[in-house]
Amino acid sequence: MRRLLYLTIITALICSACTNRKPNYVIGVSQCTEDIWRDWQNSEMTLESMLHDGVELRFKTARDDSKRQIEQIDSLVESGIQLLIVAPNQLASVTPAINRAYDKGIPVIVFERKTDSPKYTAFVSADNYEIGRIMGEYVVMRLKGKGRVLEILGLKGSSPAEERHKGFTDALKGSGIEIVASLQSDWTEEKGYETVKNYTGSLEDIDLVFAHNDRSALGARRAFIEAKIIPLPLFCGIDGLPGKYGGIQMVRDGILDASYIYPTRGDQLLQLALDILDEKPYPKEIVLTSAIVTSENANVLMLESDMVSRQSQRLSRLKDMTDTYMQQLGTHRVISILAGVLIFLLLLMIIGIYYHFLQTARLNDERNKMEREKLDFYTQVSHELRTPLTLIQAPLEELTETEEGKKASPETKALYNMLRRNTNQLIELINKMLDVQATGSLDILATGHQNAVMAPTTPVLPTAPIEDDGSKSDILIVDDNADIRTLLRRILQDRYQVNEAEDGQQGLELANEIVPDLIVSDVMMPVMNGLEFCQRVKDNIATSHIPVILLTARALSKHQVEGYESGADAYITKPFSADVLLARIDNLLKNRLRLKGLFANEEEKKVEQAETPAEEPQQPQQKEDKFMTRFREYIEQHMSDSSLSVEAIGAELGLSRVQLYRKVKALTGQSPVELLRTVRLHKAHRLLQDSVKSISEVAYEVGFTSPSYFTKCFRDEFGASPSELIS
Ligand code: FRU
Repeated sequence: MRRLLYLTIITALICSACTNRKPNYVIGVSQCTEDIWRDWQNSEMTLESMLHDGVELRFKTARDDSKRQIEQIDSLVESGIQLLIVAPNQLASVTPAINRAYDKGIPVIVFERKTDSPKYTAFVSADNYEIGRIMGEYVVMRLKGKGRVLEILGLKGSSPAEERHKGFTDALKGSGIEIVASLQSDWTEEKGYETVKNYTGSLEDIDLVFAHNDRSALGARRAFIEAKIIPLPLFCGIDGLPGKYGGIQMVRDGILDASYIYPTRGDQLLQLALDILDEKPYPKEIVLTSAIVTSENANVLMLESDMVSRQSQRLSRLKDMTDTYMQQLGTHRVISILAGVLIFLLLLMIIGIYYHFLQTARLNDERNKMEREKLDFYTQVSHELRTPLTLIQAPLEELTETEEGKKASPETKALYNMLRRNTNQLIELINKMLDVQATGSLDILATGHQNAVMAPTTPVLPTAPIEDDGSKSDILIVDDNADIRTLLRRILQDRYQVNEAEDGQQGLELANEIVPDLIVSDVMMPVMNGLEFCQRVKDNIATSHIPVILLTARALSKHQVEGYESGADAYITKPFSADVLLARIDNLLKNRLRLKGLFANEEEKKVEQAETPAEEPQQPQQKEDKFMTRFREYIEQHMSDSSLSVEAIGAELGLSRVQLYRKVKALTGQSPVELLRTVRLHKAHRLLQDSVKSISEVAYEVGFTSPSYFTKCFRDEFGASPSELIS
């Protein structure tokens, strides 16, 4: 049961501390005095209040001063209490303050001492008349019906004093006991002492002193001792408080003869207050009952009261601990809230930054997209303008170069010049327009501009390279604009064999079929654009060796980079000058011829070093090297086979007869058949030098069917007959 009480109190303490919110009820307690009895009662009220959530108690003590108590009651009311518990110092004097509170609608519980007004909500007290009477009966019994008694009265005008006196005297009536004097005191020990000290009657023949409370009894006893009255009379009091120097202990120790437990019941008082505030039913008058303390029961009561006081001490220690804990909890709560707020703010900040980042990224994306679209638009427009301009500029140049043009009148020449000037101005304007649009990395190559605005000079053209067999080199033009194709044909046809295709797809088919020596291709074309076309030409083994010139209106460096990335060998922007184009074509074909030389030399070297084929030639065009290596290896493996055909070699390398012929010719300057013969002769040369084989044996070994034909070819190749070599 007790454990349950502890648990309940602790839970209540924690709960009350945890909630830490504005109290629901504020209760004012006005005590008339301060002493152990009042302290005990106050702590009972405090403990009880902890069991209820949201109750605040405001204690005041008047220290036996009615005037002070009046002020305190008024100030409590002023402070906003919702209920007043009051023990009035005196019956009449404190009443007006109590009435004021009551009139303000504040419920008033009068306890232990009465007022002379009906203005109270409830009254709680022991029956003081009854206590006086019981004490009277005890005295009669103790003095065996006769003797002399000195009475020390409580505070004049206080109800317990009046009632206890009445009960006491009533009980003594009819007995042989005489009250020699009823001396006025005021509940305090000091006054009890003084009253007896100032007593003028004789103290000698007093059998018993009955004081209205234990403290006064103690004061009176001191006076008797001081007066050296021996033996001392018996001393009886009222209150019977527990604890050290309480009435129970004094009875047990024989200091007092008897006392009466005057009940404090602070818990009950507070419960009543809460019932009133909660508008629950409550009794208007509560009479507390109790018992007399004599030497017979003092020991038991002492033990019991010790236990109670120890428990209450532990409870108050628990309360202190709970208070400390709750204080810490409060601090933690504040820290937690601050941390929470901080985390929330941080989260907000992170979300803000992230959102800002997203916004910026989105804006950037949009801006870039718009820039790209704008640039594409301008590129498209410039392409649309550059092509017709090319088609005006080039024929114009051609016209001025004709016989008629040269002979034209000064007026006509002025008109030609005007046309040329304005065409160039238009080209310049287009370039400026692109310049304005293109920023940062999208800058235009200066060379692109120069090409565009450069007026064609009278072309001092290099001689077009003519193939060994006297035929012209094949050039494939790929452009969707028929006029451009016509213009290019006009520029190129004198020097080259010109082939045309209308888009990348067609161009690819034609390139595979004829394997041209060079390709000039537009970039922006339907079906397959020039970049893809170029890439596919370079990816195909049959055409990978063909130089590709991209001829385009896409003048920005970014576009040129794209072009070179697709594998283009040159990039010329429109409008172009015919002589630049021709010079470029010539240059590339010459380079290819240089390459021919390189391959041929390599071939010779290879033939000489046939025994050490592990050493791969380190040519820049690795792809073509690889092709030639495969070609040579195959020939060397099948050299003795006189029927080895070009078709068989082509099939091995994945090329048609024409493709193989064109590719090998382009790379080495020799036809596959010639190359086959050269390889055979070089092998024979080595065999003749190193072995003891006959000319015929060597001729058959390297795949010749006729030794006489072998001898002829050998002389053609090395300028000496095989017999000269072995002799
Ligand atoms: C306590 C007290 C007691 C006495 C009672 C009378 O304050 O003085 O000693 O019994 O009040 O009201």
